[in-house]
Amino acid sequence: MKNRVDVLHGVNLDVLGRRERAHYGGVTLAELEVRVMHFGRDLGLEVSFSQTNHEGEFCEYLHRADSSADGLILNPGAWTHYSWAIRDALEITGLPAVEVHLSRVGEREEWRRLSVIRDLCLGCVQGKGVDGYRDALAMLKEALDA
Ligand code: DQA
Repeated sequence: MKNRVDVLHGVNLDVLGRRERAHYGGVTLAELEVRVMHFGRDLGLEVSFSQTNHEGEFCEYLHRADSSADGLILNPGAWTHYSWAIRDALEITGLPAVEVHLSRVGEREEWRRLSVIRDLCLGCVQGKGVDGYRDALAMLKEALDA
């Protein structure tokens, strides 16, 4: 049975709770992780979490991901919009992945509209805050069960 999901958070997601509330709400990363863990449990998924502010480290998580996960949820923060290194690393994993953003990246500044990972992902959930992770887990579960 494939049920292991790694949720990878990138740059500046560790300071959730201190970032613009209008975009990200008031939740801290630790609180978010507890909620997402419960969403996963309800779906029969085992969820684990990593966060880093270092791009190379994020790539290294991805290099190792196929040994610990069956699927991935990625919120790379600002790297989403320009990190070709993370895109390449994601492609190497070969794992099903869903892109998540707490805020509506498609309706904010022009530079946030581009995602260099989007076409490698099963889908993108944005603008739904923490609940967006539940949608992403459901999307992954459907792919893992297929
Ligand atoms: C974000 C959106 C990105 O544009 C931004 O740089 C972030 C967070 C989100 O979750 O809405 O750090 O990925």
